[in-house]
Parts: sequence; structure tokens; C-alpha cells
Amino acid sequence: MNYRHAFHAGNFADVLKHALLARVLTYMIAKPAPLRFVDTHAGLGVYDLTGDEATRTGEWRDGIARIDAAAVPPALADVMAPYLAAVGPRGADGAWRSYPGSPAVAQWVLRPEDRLTLCELHPEDAEALKRETGRDPRVRVLASDGYAALNAVLPPPERRGLVLVDPPFEKTDEFDRLLAAMLRAHARWPTGSYMLWYPLKNRAAVGRFAAGLARSGMKRVLQVHLLVGDPDAGPLAGCGLAFVNPPYVLKGEAETLLPWLAETLARPGQATEWTVRWLAGE
Ligand SMILES: C[S@@+](CC[C@H](N)C(=O)[O-])C[C@H]1O[C@@H](n2cnc3c(N)ncnc32)[C@H](O)[C@@H]1O
Repeated sequence: MNYRHAFHAGNFADVLKHALLARVLTYMIAKPAPLRFVDTHAGLGVYDLTGDEATRTGEWRDGIARIDAAAVPPALADVMAPYLAAVGPRGADGAWRSYPGSPAVAQWVLRPEDRLTLCELHPEDAEALKRETGRDPRVRVLASDGYAALNAVLPPPERRGLVLVDPPFEKTDEFDRLLAAMLRAHARWPTGSYMLWYPLKNRAAVGRFAAGLARSGMKRVLQVHLLVGDPDAGPLAGCGLAFVNPPYVLKGEAETLLPWLAETLARPGQATEWTVRWLAGE
């Protein structure tokens, strides 16, 4: 387990993932019944942008810093509001110090009656996550394999909620593991909402994964892709999210958001691309 999200916190992929995560949760809390958020690969919770890892790569400068510098178009103000609120303002001196991971984004959006189950396998990161969230009575951190934990935590007693699966893609069979975990989870809890993250690097693997989702028999599977540069050159330039049972408005909102994200986060001189489409409909 070499992957460390601290090198990538606040980059273009985090912007897309966390903006849509905050928006989906915001829709879900419009209903009064409590809900459960399950984060199978939770990371640290909050990232120090002044730390060695973030400073070495500077990826956040082409992610959240660009979003901050751009004017959010009025048509996107509502869509971006929950995410920007979760990210919070810069320091009084105008400097960025920290960036929220998915647990902190969810903590920000969710209500006192909601619950969060956060899995993190790396022992040091799990300890850091426990320290970060320890004062929040809604949170339970499991220092265990997030895929395996799904068998134990689904379906949750709340009977409504969102599962985020955001693996590091260090293993060559991660797409297979992700698809298998999704199908097992859906069999246990078909009415839950799910959000799966993956990199756009290996076109064949992405195609097989999408075909697997489309053929699975699951309904309402939405695919969102964003490329901010050339996928075959240099560092990761694209990522995808697959949603199962997303809020009804998400497709339309993503179609408005993605062109602006592509334009705002584009790598200089490189073409961008985005897609939003149903892999499986009603
Ligand atoms: C991409 S990062 C998570 C980022 C986080 N979801 C966010 O958006 O802020 C992936 C995390 O999964 C952890 N991890 C790797 N394998 C795992 C597993 N099998 N179960 C749980 N966590 C795992 C890594 O240590 C890493 O912190």
C-alpha cells in the first residue's frame, strides 16, 4: 500500500468527485429520514496543503486553486455551493492551508441525525482519520478493507444513504474488484445510492468496466467522464464516476457542470473532453 492521497488532494479529480459528492448528499438530506454515508476508501479526512506531499506535486494548484480563482457562472452557483462551503474560505492571509477529503465533505453536508462509516486500511491513515473525526459522534472509523466491510455494513439500519468507493488503483485487478464489490453491495442493498471513482488511463479496462455495469442488470447507472488533458501524456489527466441510483436531477446538473470544469481545469495546450450518459436506464 504505497498510495498516499496527500500527494493528490485538491487536484482536478478531487474537485469533480467532491463537488458531485456534496451535491448528491445535499439532495439526499432534503428528505427528513436519517441516512448513512459509507466511504470504503476514506483517506485522511483532511489534507495539509502546506505539507511535504502536497507541496512536492502542487496538484491542488491546478485543481481547487483554479476553481477558487475562476468566477463560478450563475447557472452553476447552486450546483457548486455545497462543495465550496465544505472547502471553506482561504486563510485571512489569502493562503490555502488545508483541503477536505471525502469524509470531511460529508461531515460538512450531513445532519446530526445522519451517520458516517469510514473505512481506511492503511494503519497510520486510519489513526489520523480517527484523530480527525474523533469528536464527531456521527462517525465510526473502521481500520479495515473497505470492500470487505461492505458485507458487514450493508444494508444500514437507516435504509437510505450513499456508498462512495474510491480505491487507489494500485492493483492491476482494481476494476474487477470494484465491479464485483458493486454487484455484491447492490445484491445486499439494491435501493442504496452508490458512487464509484476510477481513473481514465487504460481505455480497454474502462470499457470492460462500463460494459460490466451496463450488463449487470442494475438500473439507473450514470457515467460521468472528465479529461482535462491528454490521457496518454504525463500524469493522470482524466477520471470517471459511476453512479447507481443517483438523484434524478444529477444528469442535468452534471451536463451543466462538466463543460465548465473542463474549461477551468484544462491543461495548457491540451484538448479536454467530458461525457455524461446513462449506462443503464430506468
Ligand atoms: C483515493 S484515496 C481516498 C480519498 C478519499 N476518498 C477522498 O476523496 O478524500 C484511497 C485510500 O484508500 C486506502 N486504501 C487502499 N486500499 C484499501 C482497502 N482495501 N480498504 C480501505 N482503504 C484502502 C488508501 O490508504 C487511501 O487512503
